[in-house]
Amino acid sequence: MSDFDLIIQNGTVATASDVFKADIGIRNGKIVQIGENLSGGVRVIDAAGKYVLPGGIDSHVHISQPSGDGIVMADDFASGTLSAVFGGNTTLMPFCLQQKDMSLREALTAYHKLADGECYTDISFHLIVSDPTEAVLGQEIPALVADGYTSLKVFMTYEGLRLSDGEILKTLDVARRTGATVMVHCENEDAIRFLIDKHELAGDVAPRAHASTRPIAVEREATHRALSLAEIVDIPIVIVHVSNGEAMEEIMRARARGIKVIGETCPQYLTLTAKDLDGMDWEGAKFVCSPPPRDEAAQADCWRGIETGVFELFSSDHCPFRYEDERGKLNPKGSTNFRHIPNGIPGVETRLPILFSQGVMTGRIDLPRFVALTSTNHAKTYGLYPQKGTIAIGADADIAIWDPAITRTIRHADLHDGADYSPYEGMEINGWPVTTIVAGKIMVDDSVLVGSKGHGRYCPAKTGPTNDITNARKDIR
Ligand code: URP
Ligand code: ZN
Ligand code: ZN
Ligand code: ZN
Repeated sequence: MSDFDLIIQNGTVATASDVFKADIGIRNGKIVQIGENLSGGVRVIDAAGKYVLPGGIDSHVHISQPSGDGIVMADDFASGTLSAVFGGNTTLMPFCLQQKDMSLREALTAYHKLADGECYTDISFHLIVSDPTEAVLGQEIPALVADGYTSLKVFMTYEGLRLSDGEILKTLDVARRTGATVMVHCENEDAIRFLIDKHELAGDVAPRAHASTRPIAVEREATHRALSLAEIVDIPIVIVHVSNGEAMEEIMRARARGIKVIGETCPQYLTLTAKDLDGMDWEGAKFVCSPPPRDEAAQADCWRGIETGVFELFSSDHCPFRYEDERGKLNPKGSTNFRHIPNGIPGVETRLPILFSQGVMTGRIDLPRFVALTSTNHAKTYGLYPQKGTIAIGADADIAIWDPAITRTIRHADLHDGADYSPYEGMEINGWPVTTIVAGKIMVDDSVLVGSKGHGRYCPAKTGPTNDITNARKDIR
């Protein structure tokens, strides 16, 4: 009888704290041994010359989420998680959107129906609270947190989604009592509306106006306000998709006042600028996301935040729409006025390669910091650690094997998401994940799909110490 279902031999293993040479023994979906010269595996992978890393956890992805105007997202759970495994991810945390007049339970039932049996990666949901009624705050959230739905996202922008400051305070208060973690999308909706009206009046309705109507001040002010609301309630918060240095300054100033805040940034803020929205023939629509990409100075600031620890999380904010169907000529509203272009860009498959290539391979960050930013800190922040986010005995065998010698040019034709373009088309990448293992099962084997959908399971999240940002921050590099 074999000791292991799978052995990964001769690789360079990295966790958020260490880099070492070791073999990894896997049995029944778990890591059961880490040591030298392991033998007795049903299957053995030779990882000589490769990096063996915890699989990526992308804690910010949108899949099958309805948007206004009846527009359908380009990825369902099968295509979104398929794209994710090819990009070295083993767990996704998509959002479950509560629509108005809907309970959180109803929203969850609908999302589970869409996701169950469809996933290539493991998943765990965040709940978007868009209608914080007394029942939602008083009964639903406490019961759902107890059931393992421990993170909430609130929006300060988007008609139909935004909460008032009072509603955010009440939601934070429930989160504090129940141990939930709150993520905040920080942009000032009234300021955006004011600017949109002005731009429309002036006839300035091309995609570039999306960036002009969401300037840095809109994000900086809302970031400051969200941090102040968290300070008033005395609860840690997560500021998602931070795009620039001024919002980063708010995070640093809040930390100096003793507020516990986790910061997240995304590939678009390192690699794109508002100029990309200027593309000819409405091509700029391919880069419409919120907050919008800024300029080279903001990119440099975000890199500094990654290098110095302002950011603990690096997520994709994958939010895919098909350019041809939804924002091109076939969508009359979205192809004539920027305000009808659905917000969001695809990127679940390219998140890790972009940071690996531009961060690790250039020496900006080391392998442990890469692992922390892309996997470990996500598990710690959202209550999945240490089952997920590390290579340790007893953890799920969620592993990505990286070949640093691969050089690839990003081409959407080679990606696996349901969109019809990549905002990163043509980008040269050094290093790519070649093998992805989800809970002990090889899903992508040397760049070939061998797993099938339905292997990915739903993972309830914990509160308590692993979800306590105060404690987690001590470990966060
Ligand atoms: O433009 C974006 N980011 N779309 C996704 C929704 C969100 O705000 O995260
Ligand atoms: Zn958001
Ligand atoms: Zn998002
Ligand atoms: Zn595609």
